[in-house]
Order: sequence, then structure tokens, then C-alpha cells
Amino acid sequence: MLVALLPGDGIGPEVIAEAVRVLDAAGVSDLSYETAPVGGAAYKAEGHPLPEATLALARRADALLFGAVGDPDCDRLERRLRPEQAILGLRAALGLFANLRPAKLFPELADASALRPEVASAIDMVIVRELNGDVYFGEKGMRTTPGGLRQGYDVMSYDESEVARIARVGFETARARRGKLTSVDKANVLETSQLWRDVVTEIAAEYPDVALSHLYVDNAAMQLVRNPGQFDVIVTGNLFGDILSDQASMCAGSIGMLPSAALDGAGKGLYEPIHGSAPDIAGQAKANPLATILSAAMMLRYSLGKPDDADRIEAAVAAALAAGARSPDLGGSMTTTEMGDAVIRALR
Ligand code: NAD
Ligand code: IPM
Ligand code: MN
Repeated sequence: MLVALLPGDGIGPEVIAEAVRVLDAAGVSDLSYETAPVGGAAYKAEGHPLPEATLALARRADALLFGAVGDPDCDRLERRLRPEQAILGLRAALGLFANLRPAKLFPELADASALRPEVASAIDMVIVRELNGDVYFGEKGMRTTPGGLRQGYDVMSYDESEVARIARVGFETARARRGKLTSVDKANVLETSQLWRDVVTEIAAEYPDVALSHLYVDNAAMQLVRNPGQFDVIVTGNLFGDILSDQASMCAGSIGMLPSAALDGAGKGLYEPIHGSAPDIAGQAKANPLATILSAAMMLRYSLGKPDDADRIEAAVAAALAAGARSPDLGGSMTTTEMGDAVIRALR
């Protein structure tokens, strides 16, 4: 099995290094790795954030383990050359339309959540985020109005097949959990969302065992901090899912805790923490690597057919936290490497 390692920028290489150490320590059989540049690092070395050779490796690999991209030096480049185009380009080129972002609180982290422990401890949910459409991939540009003003625009759209396929992932995910699906949209204002709501409601007929409800995204954001325990699975569009998952991460203790899987529906996946390159802490050994380690576990489960190894790594993360492992985002002072060491100790 070939795993493409795409460390990227900022803390990306720091957290990927720990995930690979944990995979090695877990003794996962038949894994080989190839590393390739993405993001600002690739732009600086090769003039493009997603070089041809990196894309070729991504196509060839059985799974991809991705760190993060984003570099303040690159924020004024023309958009097609910016680091973020690497992750957007991979999601599009590989058809990775289904983004699973589980958010649950490890009991030991109740004190790290931004919510009161009794509210936070109930969070155990999956955000199913559509990843190939929405305002992210519509026509966009800058133009001048007839009155001579600069105007930026980004077209938001979904067609019914795009909504139907992510809705099915949402229903299937809910069916395998507690059977509750909440579809989040802005149908009171947006036509894109009205279609979304109509199609999700139609698909519900195929899943009589799943309880479907709808929420507007503003209310959903409020409910997520009022009572996160009410959610089982949320299915939503690309933009709303991006925002709600960062918010959910703080209910679960830290953005450094949330893993993700981006799936093509045929077994291939890109696995990454939900966080970015964190330029404010890059190079200081402060990054929490657990989101990336948990992403590696998701990779073993969803793309590489090794659920037992995934279980062992997830249990080791829980045990490390129970033994007191805390990076600065969790209120402690352990370095990135010390956090990796704690997981490796727990594996043995
Ligand atoms: P960010 O997620 O990088 O950081 C937000 C805050 O969370 C920062 O204070 C950071 O220090 C902290 N943080 C993030 N990950 C952490 C970790 N593992 N441990 C401890 N603290 C952590 O978001 P941002 O600052 O808005 O974006 C920085 C860059 O990352 C931008 O260029 C953005 O486009 C990019 N980005 C990339 C991805 C990705 O590659 N998938 C995701 C999000 C943001
Ligand atoms: C994420 C990130 C990306 C997104 C950016 C970097 C394009 O925020 O993976 O959550 O918006 O999808
Ligand atoms: Mn994001």
C-alpha cells in the first residue's frame, strides 16, 4: 500500500512527522511512503502549489496523508498560485467529494473545551461536508461596476446530483451511528439551499430508519454551542461545513484535535487535520499533532482496510491524554514531539 505524504507548510511537516512515527511504532504492515511538496513550499521550490509530479503521486497512491498548506508570504499571489490551491486542486482532481469531520470530546479534555464541561462532554458527532462544489468552485473574479467601483464575485451553486450523493453519505453515516441526520442550509435566503433542502428531503425516502431534520446555518451555529450533544450527523455544503467544523473543534477541546477524511466514494481518500498551517506557532514545537495522528487512523480504517490498527492508534491517543499528555493548546507545555512520544508509549 502506497501512502503519499504531503506535509506542506507551517506546522504541516511538524505534525506529519509525528503521525509517521506513530504509524511506524504501531507496526502497520505493508505500508510504503513517498513524500512530495505541496502548497507554499512547492510554489517556492517549483513555481506551482500543486506540481505535476505531486499530482501524479496523488493519483498513484492508495491514500494521501496531508499536513496543511498556507503561507503569509504567498497571500498576495494570483489566486491560482496560492498554497490553498493545492488542497482545493487535489479535492477536485481526485473527486474527493465527501468530507467526514468527526468531533467528539475525549473525557480527559473536558477542562480544555471552551464550553462548560457538562455541556461539552456530550459532543459526539460527525460533520459530513460536501467538498467538490458550492461557492468554492463557482465562477469567481474581480470586475469593475459601471460606476467604476471594484467588485469581487463568487458564484454559489449546486446541482441535484451533487446534493443527492452527499446526502446519501450523510444518511449512511447516520444509519451506522445513532440514526439522526441534521441537514444545515440557508434555504430562507439562498436558492442553492432551497434545492439542497428539497433534494435531501427526497433522498430521505430511501432511509426511513434515519430521523431527518433541517436547520438554518445561523441557528445551527448557535445550537452547536448551546447543546452540541443534540447532534449525531450534520450534512451540509462546502462553506457552511468549513465554518461549523472549526467551531465544533473548540467544543471538543482544540482545533488541534479534529481529524478528517476526504473520500471519493470508491475507497481512495485524503486524510488531514481540519486545521491550517498555523503560521503563528510554526517552527516552535507547539503544534498539537493528535489531529493528524487521528487522521492517520482514519486512513487505516477507510482506505487501507486496517480497522484494528486504527482502533489501536485511537486507543493510544486516548491513553496518552489520560496519562496527562497536553500540548499548549490543551493547557499544557509538551512539545509536538513529546506528544508523539506519549502516543507511542501508550501503543506499547
Ligand atoms: P489555522 O487553523 O492554521 O490556525 C488557527 C489558530 O489555531 C492559530 O492560532 C493556530 O496557532 C491554532 N492551531 C491550528 N492548528 C493547531 C495545532 N495543531 N495545535 C495547536 N494550535 C493550532 O487557521 P488560520 O490561521 O486561519 O490559517 C493559516 C493558514 O492555513 C492560511 O494560509 C489558511 O489558508 C491555511 N489553512 C489551510 C488548511 C488546509 O491545509 N487544509 C486548513 C485551514 C487553513
Ligand atoms: C479546510 C481549509 C480549506 C477549506 C482552505 C485552506 C482551502 O479551511 O480544509 O478546512 O476552506 O476547505
Ligand atoms: Mn477550514
